[in-house]
Parts: sequence; structure tokens; C-alpha cells
Amino acid sequence: MREFKDKIAVVTGAASGIGRAIADRCVNEGMKVVLADIEEEALLRAEKQLKDMGAETLSVVTDISKEADIRALAQKTVQTFGAVHLLFNNAGVDAGTGCLLWENTVADWQWVINVNIWGILFATEIFVPIMLKQKTACHIVNTASIAGLLSGPGNGIYSASKHAVLSLSETLHQELRLIGSNVGVSVVCPGFVRTQIMDAERNRPTELSKQTGLGNLPPERQVINQLARKAVQNGILPEDVANQMFEGIKKGQLYIITEPKFKPAIRQHMENVLNESNPTPSQMQLVRNLL
Ligand SMILES: NC(=O)c1ccc[n+]([C@@H]2O[C@H](COP(=O)([O-])OP(=O)(O)OC[C@H]3O[C@@H](n4cnc5c(N)ncnc54)[C@H](O)[C@@H]3O)[C@@H](O)[C@H]2O)c1
Repeated sequence: MREFKDKIAVVTGAASGIGRAIADRCVNEGMKVVLADIEEEALLRAEKQLKDMGAETLSVVTDISKEADIRALAQKTVQTFGAVHLLFNNAGVDAGTGCLLWENTVADWQWVINVNIWGILFATEIFVPIMLKQKTACHIVNTASIAGLLSGPGNGIYSASKHAVLSLSETLHQELRLIGSNVGVSVVCPGFVRTQIMDAERNRPTELSKQTGLGNLPPERQVINQLARKAVQNGILPEDVANQMFEGIKKGQLYIITEPKFKPAIRQHMENVLNESNPTPSQMQLVRNLL
């Protein structure tokens, strides 16, 4: 997809961080933007800011972990603007950074998988057929993470969920190419971005809130959480991610790795897999040094 002017974009997680920056970039490209987010107040604030810039927008309060909400989002988009060309499956959450796998609770797993994986699966099921019917150039960008390429201690659920996002994006890309379709796919793998991701707990549903592994984190593992928080605070800007996404979309690029500094660790990981070698302490240090 190369032409964006007057086309329709849908952005999930549009009220904050990377999603908010994507929405700005869409408006700057002359697109009409549908903003979807679970946080109503922040969503309405974002919509007002974009309308003040002269943008044509629609905001839809959406919990992406609910199929009915995604269906309503698609219906409202088509009713209002007549089509959808660019879909950013961007909303995502992180639970319990610092917990070891056996310390995370079932509720931690359910919440992250419901949002990070089911959210994208529902959107794939509902939006892809709409895009295929349109026959004009369309594109889907799924937000994974460097954690979708590297697994390290203290971030197991998030990492597993983002590995799934990477895998289903690769499959979707191949299937859409196989049928010679009009829909392109990208999967973006940011490292650390200055957003509110470390405060994702604010959006955890109450029925999954009672038991969180984070509540019982011993001090030595709170350090992992603090390191991740610091890395996010010192991370790249969300606008940078949005700009790289648009470059990737124009080139029809599947993988978008926003920070080249992670590539040596990814290369080492891939070599370990091919050589059937175990991850080494120095490799873990390499990942830790990036925090
Ligand atoms: N910030 C980072 O360092 C980083 C790194 C790699 C990947 N990511 C990914 O980037 C994406 C965007 O996150 P961010 O960093 O901008 O964080 P953020 O918390 O600033 O923004 C996430 C947005 O998603 C919304 N959201 C949460 N749950 C939702 C749900 N169930 N339905 C709809 N909206 C929901 C939140 O309200 C928020 O507006 C996520 O998928 C995240 O995993 C972030």
C-alpha cells in the first residue's frame, strides 16, 4: 500500500503511546482515522486533539479481547466511512514483568493471552474478509515486540504472547500472498518505547485482577521490573515507531525491527537454535545490557 490520502485507518490502543502516535501519523497522511481503545476518557481526549487538527475521526470504545466489540468496531467503521484500508492491531498489555513462570498466576496468563493474542485473532477473522471484498490495496500491521524474537527471564507470558503474534503474522502474510490478495501484512518488533506499557495493569479487568503474581514479587526480582521500567522510560519515541511502520507498509515489508541494536542478540539466538546450542550466560548478559 503506497497511497494513504483519504483512505481509512483503524488503530487499536489509539489512546496512548504507540497507538496515539500512529493516529497522528495517519492524520498527517490525510487519512480518516477510527480510534479504538478500552479507556474511554483517554480515547475521547485523543479524538478531540485529532479533531482540533482538522482530522475526520470516529472513536469506538473497544475491548479487543471481546469478539463482539471488534465486530462492532468493524461495523461502525464501514457504516461511517464505507471501507477500511489500514488496520493497526496495536493494543497490548504486559503482566508481571519480573515474575518467574511458575510465579505468574492463571489470571495473569488469561489476561495477556486474551488481549495480545485473541485481540489480533478476532480482528483477523473480522477485518480480513472485509478487506478482501474491497479489492483495493489494504494493509494490516500487528504490533509484536523484540520479546517476540527473544525469550529472557522474568517476562515469560508477554514473550510467549508476542512470539504468537509474530507467528500468526507470518502465516497471515504467506496465506494472503498465496491467494494473490490485495492485503499486505507487517509485524513490528519494538524494543523499548516511551509509553505507559509498564502501567498496563490499569486496564486489567476486575474479574482477572484479584490474583496477580506481581503482588508477591521478592525484592531481587522487583529489580527486573524496575530495569524494564527504566528501559521503557529511556526508550525510543512512539513517533519513531509510527514512522518506521509507515516506511515498512510502503515497502510491503513483513518484519519491522525498530531498534537495530537488538539484531546481534537476535542473530545469536537464531544461531543457537540452528546449532542446537543452549543460551549462554553471556547471551543473557547481552540481553540484560540492553535494559
Ligand atoms: N512500550 C514498549 O516498550 C513496547 C515495546 C514492544 C512492544 N510494545 C507493544 O506496543 C503496543 C502498544 O503499547 P504501548 O507501549 O503504546 O503502551 P500504552 O499502555 O501506552 O498503550 C496501550 C494502549 O492499549 C490500550 N488497551 C489496553 N488493553 C486494551 C484492550 N483490551 N482493548 C483495547 N485497548 C486496550 C490501552 O488503554 C492503551 O491506550 C502493545 O502491543 C505493546 O505490547 C510496546
